[in-house]
Amino acid sequence: MLVDNLQPFPPSFVWGAGTSAYQIEGSADIDGRGPSIWDRFCRTPGNVAGGGTGDVACDHYRRYRDDVAMMAGLGLDAYRFSISWSRVIPDGTGAVNRPGLDFYRRLVAELRDAGIRPFATLYHWDLPDALQSRWGGWIGRDTAKAFAEYADVVSRALGDEVAAWTTHNEPWVSSWLGYGWGSHPPGYRDLDLGMQASHHLLLAHGLAIPALRSNAPRAEVGITLNFSPIVPASTDARDIEAARSADVNINRSFIGPLFGIGYDELAIGPVSHALLRSAEDDMRVIQEPIDFLGANYYTRFLLRDASHPVNPFGEYVEVPGAERTAMGWEVYPDGLLDTLRAVNAVRSDIKIYVTENGAAYPDVVSDDGKVHDPDRTAYLEAHLAQVARAIGEGIPVAGYFVWSLLDNFEWTEGYRPRFGIVYVDFETQRRIVKDSAEWYARTIAAHRALAPRRPIPPPEMP
Ligand code: FCB
Repeated sequence: MLVDNLQPFPPSFVWGAGTSAYQIEGSADIDGRGPSIWDRFCRTPGNVAGGGTGDVACDHYRRYRDDVAMMAGLGLDAYRFSISWSRVIPDGTGAVNRPGLDFYRRLVAELRDAGIRPFATLYHWDLPDALQSRWGGWIGRDTAKAFAEYADVVSRALGDEVAAWTTHNEPWVSSWLGYGWGSHPPGYRDLDLGMQASHHLLLAHGLAIPALRSNAPRAEVGITLNFSPIVPASTDARDIEAARSADVNINRSFIGPLFGIGYDELAIGPVSHALLRSAEDDMRVIQEPIDFLGANYYTRFLLRDASHPVNPFGEYVEVPGAERTAMGWEVYPDGLLDTLRAVNAVRSDIKIYVTENGAAYPDVVSDDGKVHDPDRTAYLEAHLAQVARAIGEGIPVAGYFVWSLLDNFEWTEGYRPRFGIVYVDFETQRRIVKDSAEWYARTIAAHRALAPRRPIPPPEMP
């Protein structure tokens, strides 16, 4: 089955799939790569389900050629990947590790040769561990400056060969889960630190843009945020209040500063208020114009106020009777349309890419050697139908990236949840194209038949 109606998707619509460096590359200490905070975090027993690490992951660092050939076979227009900062600058600042940078040069060249547009993310959570030790990671303002330096190094090397540069992936996760809630590295549990980290991530984003613009004048530049509609679990005033503050925290605390609305007054804690009062100049940097906003969407959340001592946002509860994925997340496609409408209400002219959407299911290899994953196909189809509705309403959604191209290291959940449209046997590293990937390939081909696209223009030589 195909998405019912491909007509709304414009001819230029970008069909892609995504991954991130730590989740797929492996080769953690090869060719001079330095450790990241995730390498350290994974070493502490109990932090990651099943004791998994990114040491080997999908071995993509060595198998990238085959992986790109597979993407080409699926007919992808674009591939969203991230760059490992500590592979390029092992210490976080200073000396550049040429072999690390060369890997991304080779990857980008391979993609270009295959006619696939590279969408590169500079930061998908894997901060060089050296910067955590030196400046407390994103607590330190100097980390934001180091990020701009790193953006300059990488964009000088890759420039316009990359079609779209994304500064951060989901800075909410890096800051609030890393510093506020402590479930991600560096594992701090302090809401003021969460706020401080989120401000410095935004500052880093703004500081990096001038370098990206001057080194890659023809590339698009943006940032990716995560969105989840938050619904109160009941009509109780405490539940409504909990949902309101969680909504501000998750869905609005980044888009506001980026688009000139500033921080919401619900930003938490005395330290953060002091920090933000002195941050007027920063706000100008953060509002540096961008070409697109990346939106990641998986599910909505139902919230009850549990007056939790650390998490002020309440307690997430299950939606009774809801269909759920292997992550326990409700399948709620309408939430993607809600999200696109909400973003559009903040800035109606900003181009949106759905940079992540997808689902984990307990996939198995069948006797016929294939992976039959009808639930994932149904999930993707239902969500793409919402993208079509959004486009029909005039919301400028320019592309869609399935999360994920490959089954991979799912952070604290380890290797159990399989998000790929391509199955990975982690013992042998064999890849099996799942039914959902074949469905996606047919959808892309059908859209292309409807709206033939012009070839990607080659990048201009400097
Ligand atoms: C997002 C992350 C991505 C992956 C998916 C399931 O929050 O950006 O790396 O883990 O969730």
